Amino acid sequence: MKRGVFISLEGGEGAGKSTNATWLADYLRSQGKTVLVTREPGGTEVAEAIREVLLSPGLPGMNADTELLLMFAARNEHLQSKILPALGQGTWVICDRFTDATYAYQGYGRGISLARIAELEHWVQGNLRPDYVILFDLDVATGMARAQARGRADRFEQEHVAFFERIRVGYQERAQQSPQRYPIINAAQSLEQVRQQLQAVAERIVAEAVT
Ligand SMILES: Nc1ncnc2c1ncn2[C@@H]1O[C@H](COP(=O)(O)OP(=O)(O)O)[C@@H](O)[C@H]1O
Ligand SMILES: [Mg+2]
Repeated sequence: MKRGVFISLEGGEGAGKSTNATWLADYLRSQGKTVLVTREPGGTEVAEAIREVLLSPGLPGMNADTELLLMFAARNEHLQSKILPALGQGTWVICDRFTDATYAYQGYGRGISLARIAELEHWVQGNLRPDYVILFDLDVATGMARAQARGRADRFEQEHVAFFERIRVGYQERAQQSPQRYPIINAAQSLEQVRQQLQAVAERIVAEAVT
């Protein structure tokens, strides 16, 4: 059986990843695909428990390497028990954040060396990478305003503007290195316009999966 296509959704806080994950899944299902929507950190019972530790605003700040290791611990669990089995069955997987978020947040944001992140990436994932990383790109001020309107801030959302500016640059740099694999959505547009952009991206992905 043909392996499923692995798509991650990336971007800063409030960019519209979660809002559009379900919409993208519905579109792909309308094209005959079996689709699993999941998220990181989390996606399984154990990994969601690690997510609680990572995001809880009630805990004191943790060492940056501890945060990095917890991210990859959660990712390993998620990959082994959910993502890899699904892809193996031919299911398409849409993941709301994946390893690009670790490069952006723990690398560009916290200042951990990108080489160290790459070592963990190789350890946990081997050669597995998302087939496509859809980047929802949005100016930091708009993203923060949207995230604030959504409710109580998690531990990352409590960070400052400079942190999120570094994250945006990180995502943009990674996207520029492989533009075919990193379609960029202008997330500042209205939800309807964002969905038009997303549909065009999804049509290309579906077409490429046939060949
Ligand atoms: N294009 C858009 N225009 C206006 N508001 C949006 C748009 N996309 C999402 N939102 C709203 O912004 C908030 C954050 O969206 P969300 O999908 O949770 O972002 P993310 O998952 O990327 O952090 C939600 O309240 C959502 O309804
Ligand atoms: Mg979200």
